[in-house]
Amino acid sequence: MTMSVKTGRILQMRGNQTMYLHGTSRINDKGHLEIGGCDAVELAKQYGTPLYVMDEALIRQRCREFMQAFRETGLRFQVAYASKAFCVMAMCTIAEEEGLSLDVVSDGELYTALQAGYPPERIHFHGNNKTPFEIEMALDAKIGCFVVDNFVEMSMLNELAAKRNMVVNVLLRITPGVEAHTHDYISTGQQDSKFGFDLGNGTARRAVEQAIQMSNLKLIGLHSHIGSQIFEVEGFRMAVEKVGQFAADLRDELKVTMSVINLGGGFGIRYKEGDTPLPIRQYVEAIAGAVKETFAMRDYPVPEIWIEPGRSIVGEAGTTLYTVGTSKEIPGVRKYIAVDGGMMDNPRPALYQAVYEAMLANRANEPEEEVVSIAGKACESGDMLIWDLKLPKAQPGDILAVSCTGAYNYSMASNYNRIRRPAVVFVYNGTSDLVVQRESLENIVALDVIPERMRKARD
Ligand code: LLP
Repeated sequence: MTMSVKTGRILQMRGNQTMYLHGTSRINDKGHLEIGGCDAVELAKQYGTPLYVMDEALIRQRCREFMQAFRETGLRFQVAYASKAFCVMAMCTIAEEEGLSLDVVSDGELYTALQAGYPPERIHFHGNNKTPFEIEMALDAKIGCFVVDNFVEMSMLNELAAKRNMVVNVLLRITPGVEAHTHDYISTGQQDSKFGFDLGNGTARRAVEQAIQMSNLKLIGLHSHIGSQIFEVEGFRMAVEKVGQFAADLRDELKVTMSVINLGGGFGIRYKEGDTPLPIRQYVEAIAGAVKETFAMRDYPVPEIWIEPGRSIVGEAGTTLYTVGTSKEIPGVRKYIAVDGGMMDNPRPALYQAVYEAMLANRANEPEEEVVSIAGKACESGDMLIWDLKLPKAQPGDILAVSCTGAYNYSMASNYNRIRRPAVVFVYNGTSDLVVQRESLENIVALDVIPERMRKARD
């Protein structure tokens, strides 16, 4: 399928204010926010709020930027979309159509991909505690490879593969000892991490020795992921250097050659003013350059490069629409404006102190008149979405659009307070399509069971 994709980032001036519009977002003649050619106010009416709106053109553009940048390096590569960022069947379909591979970390993500018809041989399975059920499910589906995280998993995988007379491709996840400059919870390359085989203390070396002894595993490469929301290339370069040296040592001492080096994800995006992600091409060129140089220096056949972007594919493409409800003003302190969602649909501010930008979608041209803080509706003081946001005077019924919510929002959403999870729509060229239905009240109790003895006691 070919689609023309035209996206760009527009900076619009309003008085002395600047407003950042991602992807195909713009302000239309009615003064409304428009995404993918669809009026956000109309979307809110049609589908209700809260609503996740995904700009399909921007998602596809990001996929293409990664693919194109790699093609230009002349190296063999795979770009595996890290589906944890946003995993729904329609997204798996986009990843497939755009030629990406897919990284899954659970039976649920694997099931979603398989149900969407995603080719199993392009699926990579990650995770630090894969269950026997998950491993068997992935083996039976004949996925492309496992990224083995620890010794327990390695033995279990070998055993379960042997039972099926299969030899499976594995990468070993190495903790290279590189610290990415990011939030502690999303930094993973440092030594003190729950993930992977430590390079510095010899564990990674033992893992390789063990893997090559296992007759139902085929060790094809090494994996390293240093963290998330990274704005510089230095960490990736350092990781390549460490992995490259390790690969060379393994060749010299154990006579094994790696045909794949996977450098994980972590490419940053712009959530707010001051965020300075690099263009995708720059991350890719830096990684490819470092791989070529590092391996050539060691007379090592340049391996295939794999990466696993999640946030940078879907993050900026997402906008969450909320309806403004109540407000509370504490004179001299602050004004709270409450919306009909919150930490249930976006836990990132509460979890990582993440900062988001927002605007009133139905009054996008109006000047900002006050500074307010956006509260969610959960019974918890920590349920704040945005502190100190400049807005026109918001009224009940206004539509608040929070930008950049495409990654790790829907995928981390909960039913806290038994609040129903929102619907997700894709917008593209003036068309909107529901890709996840809003949860119903019936869904909320669908899995509940009242034990028979309690029923009896009540009768
Ligand atoms: N590969 C591996 C092995 C990973 O652990 C991750 C993310 C990725 C790829 C994708 O990273 P990305 O390109 O999306 O940065 N919930 C947190 C992010 C957790 C990231 C976990 N691993 C958040 O909301 O910021």
